[in-house]
Amino acid sequence: MPAHSPRRALAGLALALAALPAGGAPPGSPWGAAYFPDVELTTHEGRRVRFYADLVRDRRVVVSFIYTRCTQICGLATANLARVQRELGERVGKDIHLYSVSLEPEHDTPERLRAFAAAFRARPGWTFLTGRAEDVALLRKKFGDLAPIEEHAPVIEIGNDVTGQWWRTSALDNPRYLATVIAGFMDPAWDGRSQVAARGYRAAPPVAAGKGQALFRQRCAACHVPGGDSVGPDLAGVTRRRDPAWLARWIRSPGTLIDGGDPLALELLERHGGIAMPPSDLSASELDAVLAYLRSQDRQAAER
Ligand code: HEC
Repeated sequence: MPAHSPRRALAGLALALAALPAGGAPPGSPWGAAYFPDVELTTHEGRRVRFYADLVRDRRVVVSFIYTRCTQICGLATANLARVQRELGERVGKDIHLYSVSLEPEHDTPERLRAFAAAFRARPGWTFLTGRAEDVALLRKKFGDLAPIEEHAPVIEIGNDVTGQWWRTSALDNPRYLATVIAGFMDPAWDGRSQVAARGYRAAPPVAAGKGQALFRQRCAACHVPGGDSVGPDLAGVTRRRDPAWLARWIRSPGTLIDGGDPLALELLERHGGIAMPPSDLSASELDAVLAYLRSQDRQAAER
């Protein structure tokens, strides 16, 4: 039999499609009902659901693992996913579903997850999940995540159960890029007219000018949106209202100031619902660049 006859391949494909069971990943895919444990989880709204049957089957999904006490990278990852959700617009909850599963299910009750979702401005269509520790551990393992939770990587798993394909990528990428990838991911029916694509390049932000601005976009902008509070406060005027040394210390390591009982740090933490800003891990020169960028923004605003 000629192995690569296109006609045969097509006939084979038609057969395979005809033979598909009603719903679920196609038989050729290793990533279906046989792979994912159908464990019972509880949503942040208190609903009981099955991981595969209710959340994944026949859907296009984005799965991430988080925990509400995380003070490191998952805050940035979750804030970025919130921007991805806004980019995807109305599709979320309809043909794209976002899930964030707690890595600390004993601690993360549905109430805690609800508060966390609210702090990150999560909208409907994005479900936060908790469950029994051993079930969540099994789920994590199936996603290849074996690291201690403090070290778990900021990734998202993009899955399309109709085609049975999954892809892992960084949760920290540019949100517009991630939204485009998620919307089109391996979807033969994608007509390129989704909201994301339709906005085109004209809506894309200008390329970051300086180093400080580029760093700010990458490491800070997910939580600090100009013109209003988001996860973190609006930073307009911050270089005028704060002592420069305090500002540098805060940005380098907010936790050090909070742990040391700095009154301003504690007040900020309190005002923002206990969501701690993660340490920035910026080098000295990167920190200078970010501070210079913030000062230039404040200067420009003062001149206007
Ligand atoms: C995961 C979200 C997040 C990220 C990422 C983040 N921040 Fe924050 N930031 C916050 C929150 C929340 C607060 C309020 C204090 C708190 O709750 O820790 C804050 C507070 C601040 C403040 C104090 C504002 C004031 O009024 O004094 C500054 C300055 C600041 N952030 C700068 C930065 C810079 C610069 C970066 C990037 C290097 C950054 N932040 C990254 C969430 C974030």
